[in-house]
Amino acid sequence: MDAPFSLTAQEVTFRYAGQESLLEDVRLSVEPGALTMLIGPNGAGKSTLMKILAGLLQPAQGIVQLQSSLGERSQDLAGLSPLARARTVAYLPQEVLPPEGYTVQEVVLLGRFPHQRWWTLPGEQDRKIVGGALERMGVAQLRNRVFESLSGGEQQAVLLAGILAQQSSLLLLDEPGKGLDVHHLATFSQRLKRLAQAGRGILCITHDLNLASRFADVIYLLSDRRIRAQGRPEQVLTQALVAESYGSDVEVTRDAKSGLPVVLPDSQFQDPRELPR
Ligand SMILES: Nc1ncnc2c1ncn2[C@@H]1O[C@H](COP(=O)(O)OP(=O)(O)OP(=O)(O)O)[C@@H](O)[C@H]1O
Ligand SMILES: [Mg+2]
Repeated sequence: MDAPFSLTAQEVTFRYAGQESLLEDVRLSVEPGALTMLIGPNGAGKSTLMKILAGLLQPAQGIVQLQSSLGERSQDLAGLSPLARARTVAYLPQEVLPPEGYTVQEVVLLGRFPHQRWWTLPGEQDRKIVGGALERMGVAQLRNRVFESLSGGEQQAVLLAGILAQQSSLLLLDEPGKGLDVHHLATFSQRLKRLAQAGRGILCITHDLNLASRFADVIYLLSDRRIRAQGRPEQVLTQALVAESYGSDVEVTRDAKSGLPVVLPDSQFQDPRELPR
């Protein structure tokens, strides 16, 4: 891994052509050493914001800056070549389709691409790193299977192995827990936490608010074009903020053992307009 980096969006405004404003004055920072999670309702603009952070979409206003903790001058992400960007920032989109017919091992090797020179084949070192990433995601036994033949959760684990193999300082992950069972979700989240503690900067989008409660160091809540709240889980996952952003049919309580916020859909709530007359 290179030196630790932070990634900061400042006063970012964005709209898709012909649509209403989606993001206004958004400020968000991915700091090394912290597991940061981005939450918010469907369609709030989380994936769009992550694409802006990854340098794949340009904001209408504002900037995204990459800052090395070695104290070098911060760089505008837009000024980096795609390859230089990929060495520093690994991005897992919400929907990924690897090339058809690729085996698991080949898909994970794609994660090594930013480290290879175009005239060389993957070397011993690349294969070792790929093997290690497959082991850590618990899918080494699937290495020769064709990607399309795997279950949804197995595919996601392979894609995450590819992200680990990229060994970037910053990880931007759009719903990485999608399809993972509770055990794999726990081990993967613990791994992310350890990677963060070792100096990586990690931003995860998630709809699993209880996972965010358990693992996030910092949560950003995006709703109604803005960052509505940011802070530790207990500061952001409050009844008022969650109900205001997602709707009033959610209940926030505290876990008796850990004291962490627990967010559950309310089984009782009924929209008065839907009550039998
Ligand atoms: N390429 C695009 N062109 C036009 N509109 C888009 C495009 N991509 C997304 N949108 C719209 O922008 C809004 C935000 O989309 P985005 O994917 O960023 O939301 P999200 O918060 O990630 O939602 P979800 O939780 O459902 O993944 C949505 O209304 C979506 O329809
Ligand atoms: Mg999304």
